[in-house]
Amino acid sequence: MDCTVSDRLIVQPYRRPEPGSQPESLHEAYRASILRSPRKPLVLIPHTASEVTGPVFGRDDVKEADRDLTRQHAGEPLGERIIVTGRVLDSNGRAIPGALIEIWQANSAGRYAHANDQHPAPLDPNFTGTGRTLTDDDGAYRFVTIKPGPYPWLNHYNAWRPAHIHFSIFGAAFISRLVTQMYFPGDPLFAFDPIFQSVPDEKARQRLVSRFDLATTEPQWATGYRFDIVLRGQEATPFEK
Ligand SMILES: [Fe+2]
Repeated sequence: MDCTVSDRLIVQPYRRPEPGSQPESLHEAYRASILRSPRKPLVLIPHTASEVTGPVFGRDDVKEADRDLTRQHAGEPLGERIIVTGRVLDSNGRAIPGALIEIWQANSAGRYAHANDQHPAPLDPNFTGTGRTLTDDDGAYRFVTIKPGPYPWLNHYNAWRPAHIHFSIFGAAFISRLVTQMYFPGDPLFAFDPIFQSVPDEKARQRLVSRFDLATTEPQWATGYRFDIVLRGQEATPFEK
């Protein structure tokens, strides 16, 4: 049967997230959200071909070495070497191959290699804190890095961020870009962190916490953490507004 151009442009819209599973745009305890959150009701943009297709990333652009943050300088960075691995999935649990994952993080002392971070913790000349990779055919990714330290910020008196790694994921389409933060299990700072607490639903918050995994851990070398990322749907990983 012939199909017309307009038939080929019929697209399946994505399911919208469940109420409470994503951070509120305005969460007053997180001060920066007061200025940047919208004051008017959101306008839902229909999902058309331009929202649910592209981009496509070539393997030539992303090198194998980009996913090992401990090998970017002459020496090895200080801190606890870790492996962070997981899978990127769509709303139906299917693997997303070829998704571009970019990460950025503080060093083991909790300091970013960035001009805006001037708090009194040492920089590490052997650690920049950025990496990227593509998911494989099974939707899996794997980074080697250093466990980041917690760091102070100026949101409120004595404010400290729990240790975290920032993630950006491009799925199969522009609107499936997800920016989020991965946390580590059992962090005592969770209860005091307005960014973590800005996700209203407890179960959804737990989807931001990686789990220690002995099977990922390598003897005499690195501890391992698993962090799966679901781009859309009821089990979606909470993402930043
Ligand atoms: Fe951060």
